[in-house]
Amino acid sequence: MIDKYALVARYSAPVPRYTSYPTAPHFSDAVDAGTYLSWLRQISRTDPVSVYIHIPFCDRLCWFCGCHTKHTTRYEPVRAYLGVLSQELTLLGEALGFKPQLGQLHLGGGSPSLLKSWDMEELRERLGDVFTFRDDAQISVEIDPSDATTDLFEALNVLGMNRASIGVQDFDPAVQAAINRPQSFEDTRDVANRLRAMGVHSLNIDALYGLPHQTLTTLERTMADVVSLQPDRIALFGYAHVPWMKKHQQMIDESSLPDSGERYRQARRAEAILKEAGYQQIGIDHFARPQDSLARAALDGRVNRNFQGYTDDPCETLIGLGASSIGKTRFGYVQNITATGQYMATVRSGALPIGRGLELSEDDIIRGAFIERLMSDFRVDMKAFRKHHGDAAATVLGEAAIAAQNDPDGLCHISGDSFEIPVDARPFARTVASWFDAYMKKREARYSAAL
Ligand SMILES: C[S@@+](CC[C@H](N)C(=O)[O-])C[C@H]1O[C@@H](n2cnc3c(N)ncnc32)[C@H](O)[C@@H]1O
Ligand code: SF4
Repeated sequence: MIDKYALVARYSAPVPRYTSYPTAPHFSDAVDAGTYLSWLRQISRTDPVSVYIHIPFCDRLCWFCGCHTKHTTRYEPVRAYLGVLSQELTLLGEALGFKPQLGQLHLGGGSPSLLKSWDMEELRERLGDVFTFRDDAQISVEIDPSDATTDLFEALNVLGMNRASIGVQDFDPAVQAAINRPQSFEDTRDVANRLRAMGVHSLNIDALYGLPHQTLTTLERTMADVVSLQPDRIALFGYAHVPWMKKHQQMIDESSLPDSGERYRQARRAEAILKEAGYQQIGIDHFARPQDSLARAALDGRVNRNFQGYTDDPCETLIGLGASSIGKTRFGYVQNITATGQYMATVRSGALPIGRGLELSEDDIIRGAFIERLMSDFRVDMKAFRKHHGDAAATVLGEAAIAAQNDPDGLCHISGDSFEIPVDARPFARTVASWFDAYMKKREARYSAAL
């Protein structure tokens, strides 16, 4: 049995969340539009692709927010952006040279819930010019409940949305005041009910711990409220306080933030409440009802890690559209230009708006697969891993053997053919994953706290 509280202080150093490997700070301009074009031309013509579309606008700015977004109370900038997105789709269609099947579409942000019904109609049409929607396509949208209007539900309907994610964060009024996000339980419940009534069969709720003024008591109340909404999935993230990157986070009084020990207690308490309510934990921060497809995928090791967190999406190719979007092919990652104005100007000039990326080496692919299994299943079947990756797997498997031998804190061990993070060490999975990250040794990037 490990002494978790002693470890919290030792392992609270910042580490990546490993939504990709290598992680985004290691992308560079060595990958450009020309590279992406050559990758796109080589993607499978038969396998479906996934598409992520980023909408970098919000009509409110929450102080805690770490997303790439801009506050606007006007609709015109959103409309202008959508015009450019449409142009990007045309450029993409030309680059692809064929019409791939679309298996999954996710609209994230920012707040895609700012889009009007006519925007969604156009977007669906333009997507239909470039992709063939599969009959079973999963179409999901991130929704800020404060955007709820009759037209919003019409807009989501027009898009064909069948999955939704709503942001809650916390229901406590003092916490909400400190993060500039007033949002009543009743309004959130109404949005959840309306989404279900329009046929959404998978509903996710985002909640946070580690927020200013949050205590175990306030968190318990928020978790009980979240559970009462009966979402199919819950994403429970630790608040990432990175004011050197996100200036508006300076509005948060740091003295009101829970310390690493308290964050640890909050995360464990919230997890316990969700498990008691019947949710199954997926990876480090997701929860799903046992009948949800993510929970079923977890049972047979089919959960993958991606930029949205965890997914049962098996697509090899992810196409990112919009400012800052990240895409992936089997050759590597590409990220669109982050600054919205520059992204728009590049698309208007007729060029694919690639800002940076990373071409995967064989070592990247193998370490990435190892880290993905650790972050998703907390274990790697070493025999199956070697069989799949051949002799090239020897280095990382050798490192795993050394890590298990030299780990005085019991964060990992080898049992039979399996390299494992034991149940009570799972909160430290990011730290264990970082031991297999070849880039951590090369260049220091600043990340959020591990716990
Ligand atoms: C694009 S927002 C969700 C959609 C919508 N804009 C809203 O706020 O309801 C994505 C999610 O990222 C999470 N998030 C944002 N900033 C974060 C931060 N600094 N630390 C941890 N999670 C964060 C929040 O849980 C948020 O719901
Ligand atoms: S949390 Fe959502 S609504 Fe708030 S600023 Fe971030 S993206 Fe916008």
